[in-house]
Amino acid sequence: MNRIETELGNALKAKIRTQGPMTFRDFMAAALYDEAMGFYARAPRIGSPDGPFDTNAKFQAFAYAMAKAIIYAEKALGFPLRILELGGGTGQLGKNIIFFLENAHEYLVLDPSPGLRAKQKQRGLHAIKDIDCLPPGPTFVFGNEVLDALPVHRVMGMGDEEPLELYVDLDEDGEFCEQPNPLSTMKLVERLSGDRVQLGRGQVAEICLELKPLLKSIGRVVDPGYVIFVDYGDRASNLYSHRHRNGTLRSYYHQQHAYDPFFAVGQQDLTADVDYTAVYVIAEEVGFEVEEPVSQATWLRNLGIMDYKGTTGDRQSDQEEVDVLTRPAGLGSAFDVLIFKTKGLPEGPGLQPVS
Ligand SMILES: C[S@@+](CC[C@H](N)C(=O)[O-])C[C@H]1O[C@@H](n2cnc3c(N)ncnc32)[C@H](O)[C@@H]1O
Repeated sequence: MNRIETELGNALKAKIRTQGPMTFRDFMAAALYDEAMGFYARAPRIGSPDGPFDTNAKFQAFAYAMAKAIIYAEKALGFPLRILELGGGTGQLGKNIIFFLENAHEYLVLDPSPGLRAKQKQRGLHAIKDIDCLPPGPTFVFGNEVLDALPVHRVMGMGDEEPLELYVDLDEDGEFCEQPNPLSTMKLVERLSGDRVQLGRGQVAEICLELKPLLKSIGRVVDPGYVIFVDYGDRASNLYSHRHRNGTLRSYYHQQHAYDPFFAVGQQDLTADVDYTAVYVIAEEVGFEVEEPVSQATWLRNLGIMDYKGTTGDRQSDQEEVDVLTRPAGLGSAFDVLIFKTKGLPEGPGLQPVS
């Protein structure tokens, strides 16, 4: 299929012509988060034809379970928590969680996209751009499908030699292409060796260096508290195995697999599986205690999602939501829940059935 020419694509091509090839990380950061022309800058409605796929955030039953997790955490600690939602999307999830909470809370949404922050504000949420403006305090942080939307570098294994990095360049027709060149930063090999991974010759892998600054900032503001990420990914030994020889970068245009990250730059979603090993290592470095990941289905069941009653009184549609979120061959196993806590806190919410 022919690529679609976009304003952002043309702007990035002009930049490459004058400044040379860019890392895939810089390309993806612009493609998703350029403040005027990035995919998320247009604040697409989740699940709309030109937006990202439906996520858990669409389902009230998911908000009900997250509210139960917050209530559990507050009971375990014995005092109220500020809530910080990372990557609030259109604000639908935040609005629903507030509905299901028993008491009023300070509820903040952190999002880099101005368009999405505007939508979150329209739903009455307090949206912020910068986590560093927050003072440390008792906090419950969570993010649904945020880590998979962070920009990634792409590297290619070279056997026993140092991997090369794939840069975004232009071919002789002036079209985007990827070119291997020496690494832009040694942090990429440090991550692979920290993960105890060696890429096979020609094997492509995505590496997210944004994890560290994000988790460090979270570590600074959560004092004490819990951090929960719901996302897809795997341990490094699986993620970087030959099963994913071409990496896990995926691209969607109008809810269809695009198979080409340059198909419609700024109008297509880009995502890569999360390296759980790196998330856990960094979380521990930051000072969190980490809990074993659990499947979304187990976590939601432990939180009591089976008792969910929605606002419409339509028991059948309530049950359908619960089924979609917990189905073993669907979202229930596609997503995992990663939970961290500050030192000495009781076990995180949803690891055991709550009463
Ligand atoms: C795939 S969307 C998920 C949105 C929403 N959580 C949901 O489940 O529908 C990714 C979200 O993460 C946000 N995001 C990206 N980088 C972020 C960062 N460093 N901190 C917080 N949010 C971020 C995006 O703007 C977007 O709202």
